[in-house]
Amino acid sequence: MECTFGLVPLSWPSTSGFTEEICQIGAGVSLPGILAAKCGAEVILSDSSELPHCLEICRQSCQMNNLPQVDVVGLTWGHLSQDLLALPPQDIILASDVFFEPEDFEDILSTVYFLMQKNPNVQLWSTYQVRSADWSLEALLYKWDMNCVHIPLETFDADKEDIAESALPGRHTIEMLVISLGKGL
Ligand SMILES: C[S@@+](CC[C@H](N)C(=O)[O-])C[C@H]1O[C@@H](n2cnc3c(N)ncnc32)[C@H](O)[C@@H]1O
Repeated sequence: MECTFGLVPLSWPSTSGFTEEICQIGAGVSLPGILAAKCGAEVILSDSSELPHCLEICRQSCQMNNLPQVDVVGLTWGHLSQDLLALPPQDIILASDVFFEPEDFEDILSTVYFLMQKNPNVQLWSTYQVRSADWSLEALLYKWDMNCVHIPLETFDADKEDIAESALPGRHTIEMLVISLGKGL
């Protein structure tokens, strides 16, 4: 199986039978969503409805990877829009490097919370670069009644300075979290 990220083709072993409904938020170049679609998931890519060029990048990634079935929708974090209301229940929400601006954290979690009302078992899988040790999601997770599990990178062989022949993440600290709905306040 092959996926094109920018101009670099990436290959990975076939994992057919992956059928979850997946929505990527703040998708940009959309690598995780593209990969999930290649593995058989029903994928919706989204980026801010106020950033049409970012939505165009999502569409180009689908085109370059021959994935015409992948929908691209404008979802601005924290906005209760028609497109958000129309989304079918999701199994997994992918969020790659969206926790980069503390002012947006609650808007992101409120969008996720809305999707949790459609499917209380939905999980948010998020990787992000640690940009400041002072930033924390903890209080917001408590406020929005969400649980969070930290996934050590070594558990999926990602604790390296270069992954998939790229120089990323280099010396940056990357974390992975899985966030789900709490069992009630
Ligand atoms: C740091 S980039 C990460 C892009 C991609 N997920 C990745 O890992 O390469 C952040 C993304 O969030 C999107 N974004 C920024 N503000 C947003 C908002 N208020 N609502 C939705 N998406 C937003 C940007 O357009 C951009 O695609």
